[in-house]
Amino acid sequence: MTDEHERTGKPVIYLDNAATSYPKPLPVLQKMLSTYMQFGVSPGRGGYDLAVEAEALVSGVRRKTARFFGSSDPDRVIFAANATDALNLVLQGLVQPGDHIVSTRLEHNSVLRPLHHLRESGIIEYDLVPFDGSGFVDPDAIARAIRPRTAAVVVCHASNVLGTVQPIEAIGRVCADRSVPLIVDTAQSAGVVPFRMEEWHVSAVAFTGHKSLMGPSGIGGLVLAPGLDVRSTRFGGTGVDSESPVHTQAFPYRLEAGTLNLLGIIGLSEGLDYVLSQGLETIHAREMELLARLRDGLTGLGGVRLYCAEDLSGHVGLLTAAVRGISSQDVGTILDADFGIAVRAGLHCAPLVHADIGTLPHGGVRFSTGPFNTPADIDAAVEAMAAIAGA
Ligand code: ALA
Repeated sequence: MTDEHERTGKPVIYLDNAATSYPKPLPVLQKMLSTYMQFGVSPGRGGYDLAVEAEALVSGVRRKTARFFGSSDPDRVIFAANATDALNLVLQGLVQPGDHIVSTRLEHNSVLRPLHHLRESGIIEYDLVPFDGSGFVDPDAIARAIRPRTAAVVVCHASNVLGTVQPIEAIGRVCADRSVPLIVDTAQSAGVVPFRMEEWHVSAVAFTGHKSLMGPSGIGGLVLAPGLDVRSTRFGGTGVDSESPVHTQAFPYRLEAGTLNLLGIIGLSEGLDYVLSQGLETIHAREMELLARLRDGLTGLGGVRLYCAEDLSGHVGLLTAAVRGISSQDVGTILDADFGIAVRAGLHCAPLVHADIGTLPHGGVRFSTGPFNTPADIDAAVEAMAAIAGA
Protein backbone atom coordinates (compact mmCIF):
# COMPACT_ATOMS: atom_id res chain seq x y z
CA MET A 1 0.00 0.00 0.00
CA THR A 2 1.44 3.39 -0.89
CA ASP A 3 1.98 6.29 1.53
CA GLU A 4 -0.69 8.18 -0.35
CA HIS A 5 -3.19 5.66 1.00
CA GLU A 6 -2.00 5.59 4.57
CA ARG A 7 -4.83 7.71 5.85
CA THR A 8 -5.05 6.39 9.37
CA GLY A 9 -1.59 7.48 10.48
CA LYS A 10 -0.96 3.82 11.35
CA PRO A 11 0.44 1.73 8.52
CA VAL A 12 -1.96 -1.07 7.83
CA ILE A 13 -1.86 -4.05 5.54
CA TYR A 14 -5.50 -4.14 4.57
CA LEU A 15 -6.78 -7.58 3.62
CA ASP A 16 -10.47 -7.08 4.44
CA ASN A 17 -11.69 -5.93 1.04
CA ALA A 18 -14.65 -8.34 1.17
CA ALA A 19 -16.03 -6.29 4.06
CA THR A 20 -15.39 -3.04 2.23
CA SER A 21 -12.73 -2.00 -0.24
CA TYR A 22 -10.08 0.24 1.27
CA PRO A 23 -8.64 2.60 0.34
CA LYS A 24 -10.93 4.05 -2.30
CA PRO A 25 -9.33 5.28 -5.53
CA LEU A 26 -8.41 8.94 -5.10
CA PRO A 27 -10.27 10.00 -8.30
CA VAL A 28 -13.48 8.57 -6.79
CA LEU A 29 -13.07 10.60 -3.60
CA GLN A 30 -12.02 13.74 -5.45
CA LYS A 31 -14.93 13.56 -7.88
CA MET A 32 -17.37 12.98 -5.03
CA LEU A 33 -16.21 16.18 -3.40
CA SER A 34 -16.13 18.33 -6.53
CA THR A 35 -19.43 17.10 -7.98
CA TYR A 36 -21.24 17.33 -4.65
CA MET A 37 -19.87 20.84 -4.18
CA GLN A 38 -21.34 21.74 -7.56
CA PHE A 39 -24.65 19.84 -7.65
CA GLY A 40 -25.33 18.84 -4.03
CA VAL A 41 -29.03 19.73 -3.94
CA SER A 42 -32.13 17.56 -3.75
CA PRO A 43 -32.53 15.76 -7.09
CA GLY A 44 -35.99 15.79 -8.68
CA ARG A 45 -37.57 18.02 -6.07
CA GLY A 46 -37.16 21.54 -7.47
CA GLY A 47 -37.70 23.33 -10.75
CA TYR A 48 -34.52 25.39 -10.48
CA ASP A 49 -31.57 24.60 -12.71
CA LEU A 50 -29.39 22.98 -10.07
CA ALA A 51 -32.13 20.52 -9.02
CA VAL A 52 -32.76 19.64 -12.66
CA GLU A 53 -29.05 19.03 -13.19
CA ALA A 54 -28.85 16.90 -10.04
CA GLU A 55 -31.79 14.83 -11.32
CA ALA A 56 -30.08 14.46 -14.71
CA LEU A 57 -26.98 13.23 -12.89
CA VAL A 58 -29.03 10.61 -11.00
CA SER A 59 -30.74 9.47 -14.23
CA GLY A 60 -27.33 9.12 -15.86
CA VAL A 61 -26.13 6.88 -13.03
CA ARG A 62 -29.28 4.76 -13.34
CA ARG A 63 -28.42 4.28 -17.04
CA LYS A 64 -24.79 3.47 -16.26
CA THR A 65 -25.79 0.98 -13.55
CA ALA A 66 -28.36 -0.74 -15.78
CA ARG A 67 -25.76 -1.13 -18.54
CA PHE A 68 -23.20 -2.43 -16.07
CA PHE A 69 -25.45 -5.26 -14.92
CA GLY A 70 -26.77 -6.07 -18.41
CA SER A 71 -30.23 -4.50 -18.10
CA SER A 72 -31.87 -2.32 -20.74
CA ASP A 73 -34.30 -0.63 -18.32
CA PRO A 74 -32.72 2.21 -16.27
CA ASP A 75 -36.11 3.08 -14.75
CA ARG A 76 -35.89 -0.20 -12.89
CA VAL A 77 -32.62 0.73 -11.18
CA ILE A 78 -33.59 1.50 -7.59
CA PHE A 79 -31.13 3.14 -5.23
CA ALA A 80 -30.93 1.78 -1.69
CA ALA A 81 -28.42 1.89 1.15
CA ASN A 82 -26.59 -1.37 0.41
CA ALA A 83 -27.19 -4.95 -0.73
CA THR A 84 -28.98 -5.90 2.51
CA ASP A 85 -31.40 -3.00 2.08
CA ALA A 86 -31.97 -3.96 -1.56
CA LEU A 87 -32.59 -7.62 -0.69
CA ASN A 88 -35.11 -6.58 1.95
CA LEU A 89 -36.90 -4.40 -0.59
CA VAL A 90 -37.24 -7.14 -3.16
CA LEU A 91 -37.99 -10.03 -0.80
CA GLN A 92 -40.53 -8.23 1.34
CA GLY A 93 -42.15 -6.58 -1.67
CA LEU A 94 -42.44 -9.78 -3.69
CA VAL A 95 -43.84 -12.48 -1.45
CA GLN A 96 -47.51 -13.20 -0.76
CA PRO A 97 -48.88 -15.27 2.14
CA GLY A 98 -48.40 -18.98 1.41
CA ASP A 99 -45.42 -18.46 -0.88
CA HIS A 100 -42.28 -20.56 -0.86
CA ILE A 101 -38.71 -19.38 -1.46
CA VAL A 102 -35.66 -21.40 -2.47
CA SER A 103 -32.26 -20.19 -1.36
CA THR A 104 -28.94 -21.73 -0.35
CA ARG A 105 -26.81 -22.47 2.68
CA LEU A 106 -24.13 -20.18 1.24
CA GLU A 107 -26.15 -17.06 1.96
CA HIS A 108 -25.25 -14.13 4.13
CA ASN A 109 -27.62 -12.96 6.89
CA SER A 110 -28.76 -10.31 4.38
CA VAL A 111 -30.86 -13.11 2.88
CA LEU A 112 -31.17 -15.54 5.80
CA ARG A 113 -32.62 -13.01 8.24
CA PRO A 114 -35.29 -11.54 5.95
CA LEU A 115 -36.33 -15.12 5.10
CA HIS A 116 -36.41 -16.07 8.78
CA HIS A 117 -38.47 -12.98 9.58
CA LEU A 118 -40.96 -13.74 6.81
CA ARG A 119 -41.31 -17.33 7.98
CA GLU A 120 -41.70 -16.34 11.64
CA SER A 121 -44.38 -13.86 10.54
CA GLY A 122 -46.31 -16.78 9.02
CA ILE A 123 -45.94 -15.44 5.47
CA ILE A 124 -43.59 -17.87 3.71
CA GLU A 125 -41.84 -21.19 3.91
CA TYR A 126 -38.38 -21.67 2.50
CA ASP A 127 -35.81 -24.33 1.72
CA LEU A 128 -32.05 -23.88 1.65
CA VAL A 129 -30.12 -25.92 -0.90
CA PRO A 130 -26.69 -27.18 0.27
CA PHE A 131 -23.37 -26.45 -1.45
CA ASP A 132 -20.95 -29.18 -2.48
CA GLY A 133 -17.52 -29.90 -1.00
CA SER A 134 -15.97 -27.29 -3.28
CA GLY A 135 -18.45 -24.56 -2.32
CA PHE A 136 -20.73 -24.59 -5.36
CA VAL A 137 -24.50 -24.97 -5.57
CA ASP A 138 -25.84 -27.48 -8.09
CA PRO A 139 -28.49 -25.92 -10.41
CA ASP A 140 -30.28 -29.31 -10.45
CA ALA A 141 -30.61 -29.16 -6.67
CA ILE A 142 -32.28 -25.76 -7.09
CA ALA A 143 -34.61 -27.29 -9.69
CA ARG A 144 -35.56 -30.09 -7.29
CA ALA A 145 -36.32 -27.61 -4.49
CA ILE A 146 -38.76 -25.54 -6.57
CA ARG A 147 -42.44 -26.12 -5.68
CA PRO A 148 -45.67 -24.88 -7.30
CA ARG A 149 -45.82 -21.99 -4.79
CA THR A 150 -42.13 -21.00 -5.14
CA ALA A 151 -42.19 -17.22 -5.59
CA ALA A 152 -38.43 -16.77 -6.07
CA VAL A 153 -35.00 -18.33 -5.94
CA VAL A 154 -32.37 -16.24 -4.10
CA VAL A 155 -28.67 -16.96 -4.59
CA CYS A 156 -25.44 -15.11 -3.88
CA HIS A 157 -23.22 -14.65 -6.92
CA ALA A 158 -20.07 -15.19 -4.82
CA SER A 159 -19.77 -16.64 -1.32
CA ASN A 160 -18.31 -14.21 1.21
CA VAL A 161 -16.63 -17.08 3.11
CA LEU A 162 -15.48 -19.45 0.36
CA GLY A 163 -15.15 -17.02 -2.56
CA THR A 164 -16.86 -19.44 -4.93
CA VAL A 165 -18.72 -17.89 -7.88
CA GLN A 166 -22.05 -19.63 -8.40
CA PRO A 167 -23.30 -20.80 -11.82
CA ILE A 168 -25.87 -18.04 -12.21
CA GLU A 169 -26.41 -18.59 -15.92
CA ALA A 170 -27.35 -22.26 -15.36
CA ILE A 171 -29.50 -21.40 -12.34
CA GLY A 172 -31.16 -18.70 -14.47
CA ARG A 173 -32.09 -21.33 -17.07
CA VAL A 174 -33.60 -23.56 -14.37
CA CYS A 175 -35.65 -20.63 -13.06
CA ALA A 176 -36.72 -19.38 -16.51
CA ASP A 177 -37.89 -22.88 -17.52
CA ARG A 178 -40.15 -22.90 -14.46
CA SER A 179 -41.14 -19.20 -14.61
CA VAL A 180 -39.68 -18.55 -11.16
CA PRO A 181 -37.93 -15.19 -10.62
CA LEU A 182 -34.23 -15.42 -9.78
CA ILE A 183 -32.81 -12.85 -7.34
CA VAL A 184 -29.01 -12.58 -7.18
CA ASP A 185 -26.96 -10.98 -4.40
CA THR A 186 -23.86 -9.55 -6.09
CA ALA A 187 -22.32 -8.01 -2.94
CA GLN A 188 -19.07 -9.98 -3.36
CA SER A 189 -18.89 -10.09 -7.14
CA ALA A 190 -20.00 -6.77 -8.66
CA GLY A 191 -16.89 -5.03 -9.94
CA VAL A 192 -14.81 -8.19 -10.42
CA VAL A 193 -17.14 -10.65 -12.17
CA PRO A 194 -19.15 -9.41 -15.17
CA PHE A 195 -22.92 -9.74 -14.88
CA ARG A 196 -25.41 -10.24 -17.74
CA MET A 197 -28.80 -9.92 -16.18
CA GLU A 198 -31.01 -10.23 -19.26
CA GLU A 199 -28.90 -12.88 -20.97
CA TRP A 200 -28.88 -15.02 -17.79
CA HIS A 201 -32.65 -14.63 -17.09
CA VAL A 202 -32.08 -12.89 -13.76
CA SER A 203 -35.13 -11.03 -12.42
CA ALA A 204 -33.47 -8.95 -9.71
CA VAL A 205 -29.90 -8.01 -8.87
CA ALA A 206 -29.00 -6.60 -5.46
CA PHE A 207 -25.69 -4.73 -5.33
CA THR A 208 -23.63 -2.63 -2.99
CA GLY A 209 -21.37 0.23 -4.02
CA HIS A 210 -18.69 0.01 -1.34
CA LYS A 211 -16.97 -3.29 -2.08
CA SER A 212 -15.47 -4.08 -5.50
CA LEU A 213 -17.41 -1.24 -7.12
CA MET A 214 -14.98 1.02 -5.20
CA GLY A 215 -17.58 3.56 -4.10
CA PRO A 216 -18.46 4.75 -0.59
CA SER A 217 -20.59 2.93 1.96
CA GLY A 218 -24.30 3.83 2.14
CA ILE A 219 -25.11 3.35 -1.52
CA GLY A 220 -26.33 0.23 -3.29
CA GLY A 221 -29.49 -0.85 -4.98
CA LEU A 222 -31.59 -3.16 -7.02
CA VAL A 223 -31.87 -3.71 -10.74
CA LEU A 224 -35.20 -5.29 -11.64
CA ALA A 225 -36.24 -7.03 -14.82
CA PRO A 226 -39.34 -5.74 -16.59
CA GLY A 227 -42.44 -7.50 -15.35
CA LEU A 228 -41.22 -8.33 -11.86
CA ASP A 229 -43.98 -7.05 -9.62
CA VAL A 230 -42.45 -5.77 -6.37
CA ARG A 231 -44.75 -3.89 -3.98
CA SER A 232 -43.69 -0.78 -2.05
CA THR A 233 -42.84 -1.61 1.53
CA ARG A 234 -41.93 1.91 2.56
CA PHE A 235 -43.73 5.05 1.66
CA GLY A 236 -43.13 8.77 1.48
CA GLY A 237 -42.08 11.62 -0.71
CA THR A 238 -40.95 10.92 -4.26
CA GLY A 239 -41.24 14.41 -5.75
CA VAL A 240 -43.93 13.01 -8.07
CA ASP A 241 -47.79 13.00 -7.74
CA SER A 242 -47.50 14.83 -4.44
CA GLU A 243 -51.26 15.42 -4.24
CA SER A 244 -51.94 11.69 -3.91
CA PRO A 245 -51.85 9.90 -0.53
CA VAL A 246 -50.74 6.77 -2.40
CA HIS A 247 -47.03 6.21 -2.86
CA THR A 248 -45.96 6.71 -6.50
CA GLN A 249 -46.24 3.35 -8.27
CA ALA A 250 -44.11 4.10 -11.33
CA PHE A 251 -40.55 2.73 -11.18
CA PRO A 252 -38.07 3.66 -9.83
CA TYR A 253 -40.10 5.75 -7.35
CA ARG A 254 -42.17 2.76 -6.26
CA LEU A 255 -39.28 1.41 -4.19
CA GLU A 256 -37.60 4.70 -3.23
CA ALA A 257 -38.86 7.12 -0.58
CA GLY A 258 -37.29 10.37 0.61
CA THR A 259 -34.23 12.26 -0.56
CA LEU A 260 -31.72 10.08 -2.37
CA ASN A 261 -28.11 9.63 -1.27
CA LEU A 262 -26.71 11.92 -3.96
CA LEU A 263 -23.16 11.88 -2.62
CA GLY A 264 -23.25 8.08 -2.62
CA ILE A 265 -24.71 8.00 -6.13
CA ILE A 266 -21.86 10.21 -7.37
CA GLY A 267 -19.37 7.88 -5.65
CA LEU A 268 -21.04 4.83 -7.18
CA SER A 269 -20.84 6.42 -10.60
CA GLU A 270 -17.15 7.19 -10.21
CA GLY A 271 -16.51 3.72 -8.81
CA LEU A 272 -18.20 2.18 -11.87
CA ASP A 273 -16.03 4.36 -14.12
CA TYR A 274 -12.95 3.31 -12.18
CA VAL A 275 -13.56 -0.43 -12.52
CA LEU A 276 -14.58 -0.09 -16.16
CA SER A 277 -11.45 1.92 -16.95
CA GLN A 278 -9.21 -0.66 -15.24
CA GLY A 279 -11.21 -3.57 -16.66
CA LEU A 280 -13.03 -6.05 -14.40
CA GLU A 281 -10.99 -8.92 -15.80
CA THR A 282 -7.72 -7.10 -15.08
CA ILE A 283 -8.69 -6.26 -11.50
CA HIS A 284 -9.96 -9.80 -10.92
CA ALA A 285 -6.86 -11.43 -12.42
CA ARG A 286 -4.58 -9.34 -10.20
CA GLU A 287 -6.57 -10.09 -7.07
CA MET A 288 -6.55 -13.81 -7.91
CA GLU A 289 -2.80 -13.77 -8.49
CA LEU A 290 -2.36 -12.36 -4.99
CA LEU A 291 -4.83 -14.88 -3.60
CA ALA A 292 -2.92 -17.76 -5.19
CA ARG A 293 0.28 -16.42 -3.63
CA LEU A 294 -1.45 -16.36 -0.24
CA ARG A 295 -2.94 -19.82 -0.69
CA ASP A 296 0.46 -21.22 -1.71
CA GLY A 297 2.16 -19.50 1.22
CA LEU A 298 -0.32 -20.79 3.78
CA THR A 299 -0.47 -24.30 2.33
CA GLY A 300 1.70 -26.59 4.37
CA LEU A 301 2.10 -24.25 7.35
CA GLY A 302 1.74 -26.61 10.32
CA GLY A 303 -1.36 -25.80 12.33
CA VAL A 304 -3.02 -23.74 9.60
CA ARG A 305 -6.14 -25.19 8.00
CA LEU A 306 -7.29 -23.69 4.72
CA TYR A 307 -10.86 -23.63 3.44
CA CYS A 308 -9.88 -22.94 -0.12
CA ALA A 309 -9.91 -24.96 -3.33
CA GLU A 310 -6.76 -25.97 -5.17
CA ASP A 311 -8.29 -24.74 -8.39
CA LEU A 312 -9.06 -21.06 -7.93
CA SER A 313 -10.93 -20.65 -11.20
CA GLY A 314 -14.52 -19.67 -10.45
CA HIS A 315 -13.48 -17.76 -7.34
CA VAL A 316 -13.16 -14.16 -6.19
CA GLY A 317 -10.16 -12.93 -4.20
CA LEU A 318 -10.85 -14.21 -0.71
CA LEU A 319 -10.04 -17.25 1.37
CA THR A 320 -10.75 -18.45 4.87
CA ALA A 321 -8.27 -20.15 7.20
CA ALA A 322 -8.10 -21.29 10.82
CA VAL A 323 -5.23 -21.92 13.22
CA ARG A 324 -5.35 -25.07 15.35
CA GLY A 325 -5.71 -24.32 19.06
CA ILE A 326 -6.32 -20.56 18.71
CA SER A 327 -9.75 -19.06 18.23
CA SER A 328 -10.20 -17.20 14.97
CA GLN A 329 -11.12 -14.02 16.84
CA ASP A 330 -7.78 -14.24 18.69
CA VAL A 331 -5.92 -14.81 15.42
CA GLY A 332 -7.61 -11.70 13.97
CA THR A 333 -6.66 -9.65 17.03
CA ILE A 334 -3.03 -10.81 16.94
CA LEU A 335 -2.79 -10.10 13.20
CA ASP A 336 -3.96 -6.56 13.88
CA ALA A 337 -2.15 -5.80 17.13
CA ASP A 338 1.19 -7.49 16.45
CA PHE A 339 1.47 -7.36 12.67
CA GLY A 340 -0.73 -4.44 11.53
CA ILE A 341 -2.78 -6.72 9.28
CA ALA A 342 -6.54 -6.12 8.98
CA VAL A 343 -8.69 -9.18 8.24
CA ARG A 344 -12.18 -10.28 9.25
CA ALA A 345 -12.39 -13.13 11.75
CA GLY A 346 -15.49 -14.94 12.97
CA LEU A 347 -18.65 -16.02 11.21
CA HIS A 348 -18.77 -13.33 8.51
CA CYS A 349 -22.57 -13.06 8.91
CA ALA A 350 -22.80 -16.41 7.11
CA PRO A 351 -23.28 -18.90 9.97
CA LEU A 352 -24.54 -21.79 7.84
CA VAL A 353 -21.39 -21.83 5.73
CA HIS A 354 -19.30 -22.10 8.87
CA ALA A 355 -21.62 -24.80 10.23
CA ASP A 356 -21.16 -26.81 7.05
CA ILE A 357 -17.38 -26.44 6.74
CA GLY A 358 -16.99 -27.29 10.42
CA THR A 359 -15.64 -24.00 11.76
CA LEU A 360 -18.23 -23.33 14.46
CA PRO A 361 -18.25 -21.84 17.02
CA HIS A 362 -15.33 -19.52 16.29
CA GLY A 363 -15.56 -19.31 12.52
CA GLY A 364 -12.49 -18.57 10.44
CA VAL A 365 -9.98 -15.89 9.54
CA ARG A 366 -10.82 -14.36 6.17
CA PHE A 367 -8.24 -12.69 3.97
CA SER A 368 -9.60 -10.72 1.03
CA THR A 369 -7.57 -8.96 -1.63
CA GLY A 370 -8.28 -5.66 -3.36
CA PRO A 371 -6.88 -3.57 -6.19
CA PHE A 372 -4.31 -1.83 -3.99
CA ASN A 373 -2.73 -4.90 -2.40
CA THR A 374 0.80 -5.91 -3.32
CA PRO A 375 2.77 -9.17 -3.19
CA ALA A 376 4.58 -7.72 -0.15
CA ASP A 377 1.23 -7.50 1.71
CA ILE A 378 0.64 -11.17 1.02
CA ASP A 379 4.13 -12.21 2.10
CA ALA A 380 3.69 -10.30 5.35
CA ALA A 381 0.38 -12.10 5.96
CA VAL A 382 1.98 -15.50 5.36
CA GLU A 383 4.87 -14.70 7.72
CA ALA A 384 2.47 -13.48 10.37
CA MET A 385 0.33 -16.64 10.12
CA ALA A 386 3.47 -18.79 10.33
CA ALA A 387 4.52 -16.96 13.50
CA ILE A 388 1.04 -17.22 15.07
CA ALA A 389 0.73 -20.92 14.25
CA GLY A 390 4.29 -21.57 15.43
CA ALA A 391 4.95 -23.19 12.08
N1 ALA B 1 -20.82 -8.78 4.22
C1 ALA B 1 -19.55 -8.24 4.50
C2 ALA B 1 -18.55 -9.30 4.81
O1 ALA B 1 -18.67 -10.40 4.40
C3 ALA B 1 -19.58 -7.15 5.48
O2 ALA B 1 -17.58 -9.02 5.48
